[in-house]
Amino acid sequence: MEHKIAAFLRDLNTWLEFQVEMGAPGVPEGPGIRALLNRDDPDRAWLDMIGRTPDLVSLSDAVRGCTRCPLHAGRNKVVFGQGDPKARLMVVGEAPGRLEDLKGLPFIGRSGDLLTKMLQAIQISRREVFITSVIKCRPPQNRTPSSAEISACSPVLFQQIKIIAPRLILALGQVAAQVILNSRARLRDLRGKIHDVGNLKVIATYHPAFLLRFRGAAQKAYKREAWKDLQILKRLYDEEPHDTHAE
Ligand code: URA
Repeated sequence: MEHKIAAFLRDLNTWLEFQVEMGAPGVPEGPGIRALLNRDDPDRAWLDMIGRTPDLVSLSDAVRGCTRCPLHAGRNKVVFGQGDPKARLMVVGEAPGRLEDLKGLPFIGRSGDLLTKMLQAIQISRREVFITSVIKCRPPQNRTPSSAEISACSPVLFQQIKIIAPRLILALGQVAAQVILNSRARLRDLRGKIHDVGNLKVIATYHPAFLLRFRGAAQKAYKREAWKDLQILKRLYDEEPHDTHAE
């Protein structure tokens, strides 16, 4: 039980540190919480090391041989992410699939094709964004990642966000939305609105793989909802000053 509380506090702390990095005011922290967080925590050294990586190349090198969760045993390649390292927009999915695991590149299968089309529909090219996922190694049979796997891997995502410093994030699916927003709410309650995380704005929408699961009227209805989310994203994207980041 104590172990579970410590793990929970560590996740919470990681997210609070991320919030502060994104410009949110700090939170008061009692000595009891600090002691629990630091107590014999073998993860602390790893988290500190990840937190100190200054750029995407060093972060990618740091996680290349990662064995922090059981997913490493079945992977071919770590799928770190791809795109503009100074992107104004980051796109975050759930976890790599079969093709992504083989090639080490994000969103290159059927979901990737649909993602490319979704972005193209709002005149955004894949080259101008940074695409990654919460989990960097493929879960067997593409199952949903466990909460332990998410806890093990999400500090890498938070560090990517810190380094890239995007203005906007498009969270694809419930896992990405919940991790980035530190929420347990269902996707249907998180999508359709703008979330502020410090200075960062987050839009959540359906994962392309979810959209591909349906046919006919059901698929049309979900795609219509996704289209509304993309319109919100496009408006925010166009409002962002373009000259702060090279393209
Ligand atoms: N789905 C994801 O969430 N990420 C990928 O890289 C591919 C499919």
